[in-house]
Amino acid sequence: MFLKKIYLDQFRNYEHLEVTFQPSINIIYGDNAQGKTNLLEAIYVLSMTKSHRSSIDNALIKNGETTSYMKGTVVTSQSSKTLEVGLSKTKKLLKINQGEVKKVSNYISNMNIVIFYPEDLDLIKGGPGLRRRFMNLELSQLYPSYLDILNDYNKLLKMRNDCLKQYLKGEFVDESYFQILNQYFVDKASLIYQMRKKFVEKLNHYLPKIFEDISGRKNFSLIYRTNIDMDSSESYQEQMKKKLMKHSEAEKRIGSTLVGPHKDDLEFILDERNLKLYGSQGQQRMAILSLKLSEIDLFRDYKKETPILLLDDVFSELDYKKRSNLMKHIDNNTQTIITTTELGLLDQTLIQNANLIHIQDGSIISENEV
Ligand SMILES: Nc1ncnc2c1ncn2[C@@H]1O[C@H](COP(=O)(O)OP(=O)(O)OP(=O)(O)O)[C@@H](O)[C@H]1O
Ligand SMILES: [Mg+2]
Repeated sequence: MFLKKIYLDQFRNYEHLEVTFQPSINIIYGDNAQGKTNLLEAIYVLSMTKSHRSSIDNALIKNGETTSYMKGTVVTSQSSKTLEVGLSKTKKLLKINQGEVKKVSNYISNMNIVIFYPEDLDLIKGGPGLRRRFMNLELSQLYPSYLDILNDYNKLLKMRNDCLKQYLKGEFVDESYFQILNQYFVDKASLIYQMRKKFVEKLNHYLPKIFEDISGRKNFSLIYRTNIDMDSSESYQEQMKKKLMKHSEAEKRIGSTLVGPHKDDLEFILDERNLKLYGSQGQQRMAILSLKLSEIDLFRDYKKETPILLLDDVFSELDYKKRSNLMKHIDNNTQTIITTTELGLLDQTLIQNANLIHIQDGSIISENEV
């Protein structure tokens, strides 16, 4: 699939902007703080309804304005769709082909994107919450039902934690209600676990080869870490129930749930060592890049559509050899939108085939001129 056109109104530093992209390589270039990342962010919001770099929607609205609007035309092998996101300080409106969509899970699988941005390094360096968030976002794009299951799980988790807090305070809790809650909780937990596990297994089909192509190193893979003991022949549900029983007293003492996918994690392993502890900055960057490129293959195989690849400032921190290895992985069949401050960092052939967009102070000042 590819994004043919995007139109922005009062988004970040853009008053109005209209850009036409080509289905292959597009390069957005310009000095610092001109709006390159903001434009990628708008594409991200149009796909996912939220920003990848700010949890506060209001930050997306141009300073001094009260609303923001974006519209895009996405072309797939089957059809062409218009997506619209409207933001006000208190509301968000989503539309597909002019029709309002109330449920986010019905909206976000219409335009699939894979993004790499500098803060992605935190996926390795940061806490497990960021890695769970990554899996949740990607699975929501792959399977619309995942987001519904996750929302149900989070609601049940909250209800369960509320009960545990009542236990903690010595208040009355209806034990049979708590047991029923546990059953639902365990069922949803199991679904999330299975989907995440399968997702990681699939990524591991593509990941080692791509990492080797870029970095020259073998033996890179991902491991999904769950706090449930999966060595036994019992089902996830049975194991989880046992673990909940085991931690029952502790949970009532602290008033929160200690077992379940909201505690799981993802590890990046190179030569049996965790990259978080042993990887260099460059290795971590290449690991994340390989992960994102693997996702393209996964989406293509699984959804029969190639997602749109957004690369925010990836080239500036890789050495020459790694940059050119990475560029070999950028192909004309995947719509790729790249930002850079320096066109000189990119291959001449890549530039010659690309749609070049020069951004300055929230406007396009030239197209396809260097
Ligand atoms: N809500 C907003 N309203 C108006 N301007 C904003 C808003 N949010 C951010 N900006 C402005 O947008 C600019 C930053 O844009 P952006 O992050 O896209 O830069 P960039 O071109 O990617 O730069 P760099 O090369 O440094 O990454 C800053 O000048 C910032 O003040
Ligand atoms: Mg930027």
